[in-house]
Amino acid sequence: MNVLGIETSCDETAAAVVRDGCRVLSNVVLSQTDLHAPYGGVVPEIASRRHAEALPGIIDEARRRAGLAWHEIDEVAATAGPGLAAALLVGLSAGKGLALALERPFCGVNHLEAHLYSLFLGASAPAPGEICPCVALLVSGGHTCLVRVERPGSYRMLGRTVDDAAGEAFDKGANLLGLGYPGGPAIDRAARGGARDAVRFPRGRQRKGAGCPDGLDPALCFSFSGVKTALLYYLREHPAGGAGPAVADIAASYQEAIVEALVRGCRGALEGARCLAAAGGVALNGRLRERLAALAAAAGVRLVLADPAYCTDNAAMVAAAAGAGRGIRGAAGLRLDAWPNMPLA
Ligand code: KG4
Ligand code: ZN
Repeated sequence: MNVLGIETSCDETAAAVVRDGCRVLSNVVLSQTDLHAPYGGVVPEIASRRHAEALPGIIDEARRRAGLAWHEIDEVAATAGPGLAAALLVGLSAGKGLALALERPFCGVNHLEAHLYSLFLGASAPAPGEICPCVALLVSGGHTCLVRVERPGSYRMLGRTVDDAAGEAFDKGANLLGLGYPGGPAIDRAARGGARDAVRFPRGRQRKGAGCPDGLDPALCFSFSGVKTALLYYLREHPAGGAGPAVADIAASYQEAIVEALVRGCRGALEGARCLAAAGGVALNGRLRERLAALAAAAGVRLVLADPAYCTDNAAMVAAAAGAGRGIRGAAGLRLDAWPNMPLA
């Protein structure tokens, strides 16, 4: 079963072919980072226009690299949400059109569920059933949440950010520190060798009793707007390059505050789980991977980190989720509209 996946929920234009839900035959990603860098973040109109220009070529490239003819594609899948409406619409419409032209089924996939299925891609990846019950940290530029995966396809949202995503906190922090965009990799690099205790930034957690969305446990929710504001105020008083701590020390301290909040959330969610997993762009962070490994070892649970090749947005994870039978098909699939706040469950 060869699924051609399409992903355009944010600023990556991506297409991939995955066989039987786990064998990646091709994975083509065109990043728009350079287009958005001057603005310090993703501009939705620019993203959607670029998707429309690039997607036909990216889809054909994915089919060619997979070594398949069009008639060997068995299903077409595309991200339906959550994401930027105008960006989602491009991939979703292209996916439906292609499926109709090829006379193949169409499948609309949830982007968060696709990130979960990125855990099953790559040489050393487990199979979905092997890791359940599992607590998964989905952490990217658009999302930060903790999900309990009871068994494949059965999810419970345990907690999520009440404001910024962790990736946004990295991006905004790097901008304040003059480290460029995207900020996550820049802070990760700058923080190497820096003193993590040079500056004490707030740990980005919800206080008990503070408002939390959808009745979620405040101890499992995150808040990252305070840490970014704390950095802003800190830099006003101690400009980088002045007499205070070096940029590496500030970056390491800032990164530690974000990572500490994520790790504490994971620790609080682990009870009864067999496995701790992490996926999404921020799951590339070296310090986060190190701290999650220590947490899993201490708790005696298996750690599954998405293969670095599939952490940031890609279409292989979309095709993998569809290939595993997830997503919305048939008439309901073809009726799907771009769904910016599509829920996971
Ligand atoms: O998964 P992704 O491509 O996009 C969304 O679905 O949002 O993740 C992109 C985010 C950006 O915010 C980027 O700064 C962050 O992932 N990121 C990192 C690292 N690499 C990428 N954050 C921290 N450390 C990294 N090494
Ligand atoms: Zn994503």
